[in-house]
Amino acid sequence: MKELNELDQLKIEALKDCNKLKSAQELQAWRVRYLGKKSRLVAILRGLSAIPVADRSKVGAAANQLKNELQQSFDYKETTYSEAGISASVKKQSTIDVTLPGRKPLWGNLHILNKVTYEISDIFASMGFKIAEGPEVETSYYNFDALNIPAEHPARDTMDTFWLDNDSAVPDSSLLMRTHTSPMQVRYMEKYKPPIRIIVPGKVYRYEATDASHIPMFQQIEGLAVDEKITMADLKGILYEFVHRFFGAERKIRFRCDYFPFVEPGAELAIDCSVCKGEGCRVCGGSGWLEVLGAGMVHPKVLQRVDINPKKYSGFAFGIGIERLAMLRYNIDDIRLFYNNDLRFLKQF
Ligand code: FA5
Repeated sequence: MKELNELDQLKIEALKDCNKLKSAQELQAWRVRYLGKKSRLVAILRGLSAIPVADRSKVGAAANQLKNELQQSFDYKETTYSEAGISASVKKQSTIDVTLPGRKPLWGNLHILNKVTYEISDIFASMGFKIAEGPEVETSYYNFDALNIPAEHPARDTMDTFWLDNDSAVPDSSLLMRTHTSPMQVRYMEKYKPPIRIIVPGKVYRYEATDASHIPMFQQIEGLAVDEKITMADLKGILYEFVHRFFGAERKIRFRCDYFPFVEPGAELAIDCSVCKGEGCRVCGGSGWLEVLGAGMVHPKVLQRVDINPKKYSGFAFGIGIERLAMLRYNIDDIRLFYNNDLRFLKQF
């Protein structure tokens, strides 16, 4: 094949010439001669279609290989000239300014809410709680009915949520984005029997107006302990211990009655607002306190529903709002900052 011979000749000639080059200008001329649009090599590549099919791939491969070799020789020479400062013109053409300081790589870090979640989990783990996780898409049975919140119960109004289209004919099985992590109380107790001590971190969803302390998607950590002889004093003791470990012993706590259909008695825990130091601001709604969790003793009906005998066993449960804890810990005056993805905010933690 005459083309293969021609390529061999071309290679010898081009490399010989390349060795004789003395300046960047000569190098540019060499490139035009051997790799330019009007070079013999490019002519061979363009003429490939005219070569009989049987030989075409051999000639094509050899021509491309030669093209790569010549390009490598050119690149090598070009670096030599620009490093040695021989040719100002080569330097001018170069797009890399080696004298510029390097670019700092961007280091990622955990999101502040993940850090806080890990920290809370560590505190509860040290008190013997295991970590469990549950689905964000729930059935209305687990989210409401199994927790003593039947259809038409007023407590459903405070937890309106995003419902998913589904045409299931099975009662209580319509799908929704869970409004709290409490459904996992039922799911877990269906599967495991006392003694139980778990926490359940996760995202929850509510159809709610947004303001400085409310958002429609936020995160909770559920807590559940069921065993013989568990009392309200255990609940209070665990929660006070947790708050003092997370915020420090000097933090003021308000623990008072509240109502949740799935606990009896029910309670809420609030902490003095660190943003206004108890003076009253938009974060605490002017009250000086910010509610961070709901809690109570697991309702006997909930225990019965999962075949746990309420005469033998009792338990407590709580649901903590993670964003609220992070706000109080770091004096953050707007909950929306966690989700705006502004690196100036996120990089501080
Ligand atoms: C509940 O969600 C209950 N499941 C908690 C519970 C669990 C009670 C176990 C009894 C036993 P509540 O709706 O109050 O309760 O929400 C709990 C916490 O989530 C609140 O104290 C608050 O810290 C946080 N939270 C509630 N709504 C929002 C919201 N829209 N944005 C941010 N945080 C919220």
